Amino acid sequence: MTDQSAPLAFPADFVWGAATAAYQIEGAAAEDGRTPSVWDTFSRTPGKVRNGDTGDIATDHYHRYPADVALMAGLGLPAYRFSLAWPRVRPGGSGPANKAGLDFYDRLVDELLGHGIAPVATLYHWDLPQELEDAGGWTARDTAHRFAEYAALAADRLGDRIATWTTLNEPWCSAFLGYGSGVHAPGRTDPAAALAAHHHLLLAHGLAVGALRAALPGTAQVSLTLNLAAVRPLTGAPADREAARRIDGLANRIFLDPVFHGRYPADVLADTAEVTDWSFVRDGDLAEISRPLDSLGLNYYTPTVVAADDPADPAPRRDGHGGERSPWPADRGIRFLPADGERTAMGWPVDADGLYELLTRLRDELPGLPLLVTENGAAYDDYSDPTGAVHDPERIAYLHAHLAAVHRAIAAGVPVRGYFLWSLLDNFEWAYGYGKRFGIVHVDFASQRRTPKDSARWYAEVVRTGLLPPPA
Ligand code: FCB
Repeated sequence: MTDQSAPLAFPADFVWGAATAAYQIEGAAAEDGRTPSVWDTFSRTPGKVRNGDTGDIATDHYHRYPADVALMAGLGLPAYRFSLAWPRVRPGGSGPANKAGLDFYDRLVDELLGHGIAPVATLYHWDLPQELEDAGGWTARDTAHRFAEYAALAADRLGDRIATWTTLNEPWCSAFLGYGSGVHAPGRTDPAAALAAHHHLLLAHGLAVGALRAALPGTAQVSLTLNLAAVRPLTGAPADREAARRIDGLANRIFLDPVFHGRYPADVLADTAEVTDWSFVRDGDLAEISRPLDSLGLNYYTPTVVAADDPADPAPRRDGHGGERSPWPADRGIRFLPADGERTAMGWPVDADGLYELLTRLRDELPGLPLLVTENGAAYDDYSDPTGAVHDPERIAYLHAHLAAVHRAIAAGVPVRGYFLWSLLDNFEWAYGYGKRFGIVHVDFASQRRTPKDSARWYAEVVRTGLLPPPA
């Protein structure tokens, strides 16, 4: 028996951090040569983002980064995961680098290093330059080559100070929400396009790994972040298990097999045969896509419960992502179940076991590969009370449960090397606009005032001591 009242100790070299993404926090959408991304266009399209919100100003981090870095330093965070805006670094998506855009990341990185905070950079967190979308976006093979060139430009300028690089954040969302259900930019709704986009994103990843390795010092760490799904069949009945196999294929194995084993899963190719013949896969692509990585990043929020259609259910729920159309290119006959129990403000069930399941699965499938939890956190309807304090006990409970799951995974031999909380700041939550608050720091968007929530102080103490206290 473990002692439930004892704090859980994390390894001394465990990397603690917080995460953000460029479009969600930077603002300054038209400054210093930045050109529009697909998210600028999408957020301006009526009906796509709640309340008509855009990232034009966001948290104004582009101008306020010194104060935000000081805030992180005050919380004692040793690492910070952020993304570079492609249309800032290489406006329009091709051509020369934009010095003024790179200067911003140069200043940010120096500010971080000056405060003893390790920068962890992601090259693509969904802000495709609009010109590239106009030329076909991720359905066009050329976009992958443009991405690798952009990766090289960023690495040339910043590679002497950024030790950890991630190519893509959650390509599942870019492909399947962007081109399948259309709830994310660019808002296309074509399952064949979603699968072509998927392949070209992976090709972009592989080409960028090559470009980064060529440009970076040999000590640099190169990674990829996936939002793998903890897929659960509703029952053990064969039809439910079959539904789980198919969604596991389209959520997990469609990434893990090509990236780590250089092949697409045969069952996924068969399941999607009606949608596409996969002729966009060319000789040599899978060798490119499966270049060795130094670690894998996992983003986790909630599990995915699936079942076969039930004739008694006249209106089965087709997907868990809020769109009218399914993001899944081949999900006929599969329904998605709203899980019971406690939910966050996103309506996402709180279930930390899903994180443990995924981490142990990765341990078994990719033995020895270091893992990072690159996002985990929760939205709640936080507000500042009359004294100015922001009490968020639900978020603390969520974080506690998920960090306990990480600890349990480490004890089970999973090489989890770090944890990045999503998010440092309340920010632009994509199609939900500013209505969903994931930050451990509250942002009043009218005044841009930052207020650390109770969870920020709680997390700072976990980071300082390396100990997860018993649950409150
Ligand atoms: C992830 C995204 C991140 C944020 C969280 C809540 O899918 O990577 O930008 O929106 O969800």
